[in-house]
Amino acid sequence: MKIVVIGGTGLIGSKVVSKLREVGHDVVPASPASGVNTITGEGLDQVLAGASVVVDVSNSPSFEDTEVFNFFETSTRNILYAATSARVGHVVALSVVGTQSHPEIAYFRAKTVQENLIKASGIPFSLVHSTQFFEFVASIADAATTGGDVLIPPVLIQPIAADDVATIVARVAEHAPLNGIHEIAGPEVFRFDELIRRGLQARHDSRTVVADPHARYFGAEIAERTLVPEGAAELAATTFAQWLTPVEAVS
Ligand SMILES: NC(=O)c1ccc[n+]([C@@H]2O[C@H](COP(=O)([O-])OP(=O)(O)OC[C@H]3O[C@@H](n4cnc5c(N)ncnc54)[C@H](OP(=O)(O)O)[C@@H]3O)[C@@H](O)[C@H]2O)c1
Repeated sequence: MKIVVIGGTGLIGSKVVSKLREVGHDVVPASPASGVNTITGEGLDQVLAGASVVVDVSNSPSFEDTEVFNFFETSTRNILYAATSARVGHVVALSVVGTQSHPEIAYFRAKTVQENLIKASGIPFSLVHSTQFFEFVASIADAATTGGDVLIPPVLIQPIAADDVATIVARVAEHAPLNGIHEIAGPEVFRFDELIRRGLQARHDSRTVVADPHARYFGAEIAERTLVPEGAAELAATTFAQWLTPVEAVS
């Protein structure tokens, strides 16, 4: 199958590209680096010609509320328009657990727009809803740092390794469209502040992590179960300790 991976140079995208190539598919990574821009539309018609599946694992270069919303709305409209013209048979997109029930989080609102456009497109689709990636721990800590302390709400979180996410996205892309949502998560539930504390300690980062129930996540206060799967999720195998091992070995 010809499978186009939008965002195929990113953290998840590059892994999805490798995994689908390993099993023999004709995989084309598409991003501004390869002359495909989903905001301007540049290169989209050409790259989607003859494709059976398009996988969207792109992300907004900016996480500012309006910019991220505009990115996913414009990008998704352009992808779907070109995919319809090219008669692509399956659109796969990676989104986040909780998007449907937590519009108070700006980033989730942007992902919901993406999901709703895909659902309404008439193209068979699969939406993978993932929890937060282990790889995201450092940037969450940076965004939550105030005056040397890292302020994190002590809510539940069930993070997952990016490599496991990519394996599942690749598998979904190879199979028949779900026309629905598939939820995925890591094997363990943590308190969010404890996860960030362990992640920073493994990097010998001396910042103090403070459990603050009013600390915001993408601009919103979040509840106990905002970041954990809502239904029965597929659980990936890699534990946080297993994922940390190479980090500890090189630091
Ligand atoms: N982080 C988390 O914990 C988490 C959890 C659940 C779901 N997700 C979702 O996972 C997805 C992938 O995230 P990621 O961390 O792998 O992203 P990433 O590493 O930041 O990669 C983003 C990709 O998007 C591409 N891109 C940016 N602007 C583009 C444009 N105008 N046209 C085409 N491609 C463009 C980039 O291309 P260049 O390299 O050429 O710039 C890059 O390939 C996102 O949709 C995110 O919502 C993330």
